[in-house]
Amino acid sequence: MLIAQITDIHLGGVQRIAGRDVDPLIALGRAVAHLNALDPRPDVVLVTGDMTNRASPEEYAELRAALRSLEPPYFLIPGNHDDRDGLCAAFPELAARRGDLDFVQYTVDEFPLRLIALDTTVPEQSGGTLCEARLSWLDERLAEGRDRPTVIFMHHPPFAVGMPGFDAIGCDNGEALGQVLERYDHVEAVLCGHVHRAISLLWHGTVVHVTPSTTYQYPLDMTGARITGPAEEPAACRLCLWHGGALVSHLSYIT
Ligand SMILES: [Fe+2]
Ligand SMILES: [Fe+2]
Repeated sequence: MLIAQITDIHLGGVQRIAGRDVDPLIALGRAVAHLNALDPRPDVVLVTGDMTNRASPEEYAELRAALRSLEPPYFLIPGNHDDRDGLCAAFPELAARRGDLDFVQYTVDEFPLRLIALDTTVPEQSGGTLCEARLSWLDERLAEGRDRPTVIFMHHPPFAVGMPGFDAIGCDNGEALGQVLERYDHVEAVLCGHVHRAISLLWHGTVVHVTPSTTYQYPLDMTGARITGPAEEPAACRLCLWHGGALVSHLSYIT
């Protein structure tokens, strides 16, 4: 099984970022073409939040139209720039998976690896959290599927990445997630976005990967308190190959 991850598309028109014009829709088109051309083709694509900038119905319509060209099935979770209800209104299939939960959390059970979507967002805030309700839901899902290797996907990384600008808007109680994960040994990886950079960490018995944006990257700044950007670094997607009982992770650059 091959899982692809794309993240932080930030649709919403051409943006002037640090003196450079960035068109997220063109960048998404490149990402879709890249994923469709891979051999083997990914079995599934996880889109880990910040799909839009303002979460407007027009931006979600643009997202849905652009993803129509994507050949593998895809699954979305919101980031801090998204809106749960707006997202689910544009993607009824996502609303069906969410059911009557307050959060956009769901499982995908139709692949050899079980996929679990976690929602770290807090309305109107850049930072994220995982409240007791979200964590108990996860605990129940992990407990019911101990025999199924699992990948969790979420927007905010649950650990401090060592970049003060981003650590100020991280997941404020990631350690609580770590305590849940420590009770299980079948979580093969946690896939995140939000930082627009590639970062990996061995964390509470699993591996957490943060994946670059399809649209623009932030510079590696381990001292400054303010986020600046973009960095002159390429867009990328992450590919996770379930291969011989191990989940092997690659970055695949989108040029
Ligand atoms: Fe983002
Ligand atoms: Fe974000």
